[in-house]
Amino acid sequence: MALLGIFLYRILDFFFRIVLPVAVVLYFAVQLGKCAIHIEGAAPECKRQSTDSNSTYNVVAVAINGDGNTLSKDEFVMREEMQIGRLRCKCPQSPDWLKPVNKRRIAEGNKWEFEKKKRLKPLSICKAMSPFNYIGGGITVEPYQTVPIIGLSLHPVIEQMLPHLNTDITLKISSTKMLGKLHLSKQIRYDAELSNYVILGEGTFELEISIKQNVKLLNTILDNHILYTSSSYELDVYDRLQLTLLNFTNDIHVRIHREALPDLYDPGEENSIIDKVTVITKTFERYDGIEKFINRVHQFYPNISIIIADDSLYPHPIKKDHVKHFIMPFRTGSFPGRNLALSQVKTKYVVFLDDDMFFTNQTNLEGMMAKLEDPNVDMDITCGEVKNLAKLKGLRSIGYNDSEGYCNLGPFYPRSNVVPGYPQCVWGEMFIFFFMAKTAVLRKIGAYPQIVQAAHEEAWIDAIGKAKSTYCSDSSVYHKHFRNRRYTKYRVETRSVLNNDPMALFENNMCYWWSFYNFPNIDKHSLMIQSPLE
Ligand SMILES: *[C@@H]1O[C@H](CO)[C@@H](O)[C@H](O)[C@H]1NC(C)=O
Ligand SMILES: *[C@@H]1O[C@H](CO)[C@@H](O)[C@H](O)[C@H]1NC(C)=O
Ligand SMILES: *[C@@H]1O[C@H](CO)[C@@H](O)[C@H](O)[C@H]1NC(C)=O
Ligand SMILES: *[C@@H]1O[C@H](CO)[C@@H](O)[C@H](O)[C@H]1NC(C)=O
Ligand SMILES: *[C@@H]1O[C@H](CO)[C@@H](O)[C@H](O)[C@H]1NC(C)=O
Repeated sequence: MALLGIFLYRILDFFFRIVLPVAVVLYFAVQLGKCAIHIEGAAPECKRQSTDSNSTYNVVAVAINGDGNTLSKDEFVMREEMQIGRLRCKCPQSPDWLKPVNKRRIAEGNKWEFEKKKRLKPLSICKAMSPFNYIGGGITVEPYQTVPIIGLSLHPVIEQMLPHLNTDITLKISSTKMLGKLHLSKQIRYDAELSNYVILGEGTFELEISIKQNVKLLNTILDNHILYTSSSYELDVYDRLQLTLLNFTNDIHVRIHREALPDLYDPGEENSIIDKVTVITKTFERYDGIEKFINRVHQFYPNISIIIADDSLYPHPIKKDHVKHFIMPFRTGSFPGRNLALSQVKTKYVVFLDDDMFFTNQTNLEGMMAKLEDPNVDMDITCGEVKNLAKLKGLRSIGYNDSEGYCNLGPFYPRSNVVPGYPQCVWGEMFIFFFMAKTAVLRKIGAYPQIVQAAHEEAWIDAIGKAKSTYCSDSSVYHKHFRNRRYTKYRVETRSVLNNDPMALFENNMCYWWSFYNFPNIDKHSLMIQSPLE
């Protein structure tokens, strides 16, 4: 079967690459020939064409390239077509608590979308039957550095045709966004006989080379001797080079990219878990629990660093080896506390859990770390089980509204989300907070300090598109509510304003949030707009 497949593939390949182009050329040549035979009394254009050695080439040009160098469809239109299946939503009327900030949110959101559009990856549009091979996208250069335009060569059929066309060969290449300058490599300039070609615009945004019938020289030039030097400071943008050869034009997208340097963490001489992992938590008015929290961590992982951020009213000092206790102003809040603790982490990995979750003999930090270190899966955050609390799973349904932001439409459950190689793990975008993460990734996600309540879904929404997270059932902690009067009083107070707090909606440019935010009388399903593809 496999052999037959390869055989068929070869035949088809041969047909498309050799037979078809030759047939096109022959067909037009024959058509022209017919005209030449019947010139007496026939259409005069035929005679004119048949005596012009450019004619075959011109006809082939039209056949292969359409009616010139323009695209049949606008890029903008094609992008719109691509977006047709995207999950979209209607934005509901803003409830009163959201109204004061809604206009500002939409204005800030539009600025964000505008910036995002500037960084769009280009569409690499490949025309049918190009006379030359080229790389549409993937060529990358650092700002102010030089890259050869690799991957250029003539199609074999065109290469054979060329010597028979009694015409100068012109090669033109230009930077349409004027982000880089074009020139030939020094090797070409000194090696080739100067009389054979004319160069215009060397070292400018548009380079033009005319070669007199010298296919060999053309091949040499195409072979990595056209150079592009980026000429402006950019972090990550795309220039579009237009390359015209024999009146065929194709686009080459060159990425100008300032590559970020790595963020490395020293694993220590012994490469032990103590040197590679820090446990962090945020606490508030629960000293009865935090003592036990520390003891349990150190019972199973002696000497592992623990960092505690604390915004209680009357902080009690916590003095223990390998524990750092950071006292914050009263009720600074949950996200600020997490930020503070995270900012003090010196190890490559960080474990976060709530202050009422406790390590057991089934807490397996080694196993969690091994997953994050596995080069075969890209896992940034791995969660374990929290006994006594509900399990969460699924991805988040984020609807897009073209004018008013996004809708958080709750969870959805893809059919295949098991992590390859780890049957006990699933991918997801929201789990209970007991996780180990790559410190560098978690720092980049950060936490929005305006969100002060004990936010859960808000933190996970922040990680979307920035980290790949899993839940794995082979490591766990247990949860025990630690309540005291003071804690409960503040918690009830926070809860009463929580449902009307616009901060998380503002931060994520959302006009709707499915879960506990207060949107009276709205069914999330009524906000979903049916995709025309389904
Ligand atoms: C072929 O066409 C080019 C431009 O299209 C022209 O400059 C050249 O003179 C033509 N050659 C002949 C032999 O007509
Ligand atoms: C080919 O290009 C030359 C100059 O770039 C132009 O004068 C000529 O009309 C073009 N020929 C065709 C068939 O487009
Ligand atoms: C823990 O650290 C103490 C010093 O603080 C040291 O004496 C002890 O050997 C360490 N224990 C382990 C298991 O690393
Ligand atoms: C883990 O602890 C439980 C009690 O807390 C005990 O029953 C169990 O045997 C322990 N397992 C191991 C492997 O030590
Ligand atoms: C955005 O929301 C508005 C208000 O509900 C709605 O009229 C409009 O159709 C939505 N636009 C889309 C689908 O992007």
